[in-house]
Amino acid sequence: MDREDVLGSIQANVENQNLIKHMLATEAIMRALARRFDEDEEEWGLTGLLHDIDVELTDGDMGSHSKLGADLAREMGATEAMAHAILAHNERHGIPHENRLDRALFCTDPLTGLIVAATLVRPDRKLDGLEASSVLKRFKEKSFAAGANREQIARCCDIGLELDEFIEMGIAAMRAIADDLGL
Ligand SMILES: [Fe+2]
Repeated sequence: MDREDVLGSIQANVENQNLIKHMLATEAIMRALARRFDEDEEEWGLTGLLHDIDVELTDGDMGSHSKLGADLAREMGATEAMAHAILAHNERHGIPHENRLDRALFCTDPLTGLIVAATLVRPDRKLDGLEASSVLKRFKEKSFAAGANREQIARCCDIGLELDEFIEMGIAAMRAIADDLGL
């Protein structure tokens, strides 16, 4: 799979620029996790990049979200492991997480939103000075960025990461593409 082709397909299927940024952030963190665990960086990164490609196409129908995405990913040449991770990231389908790729995508998905929200309440609204400790503090405030599912983020333990380390990796990975994220 060619990343440029994948990006082109995302741009053709997704209008919401914030959703595209979410997929880019997910890709960046997935790449960092793949490097950390000595997994296939391209496979993990493109899984993150593609995982929500069907959100607008399925128009809020959680029963079809990620089923269509997995099909589209397969059509683009994704491996079965990538398609499975995309399918399983929507808990609604009740598909068990079978391996580290499935688990990594699942806990990374909501982390991006928490980090974005923690950045946007800073005076400079920049990722640059954001510290893991302040994101951790926000993590514990239930009403802050309530859409960022805390239980799901905490499942980083399933891939062998402590929460503070996971948050730190997430910030660093997103900081490396801060311009693309506009943060
Ligand atoms: Fe997502």
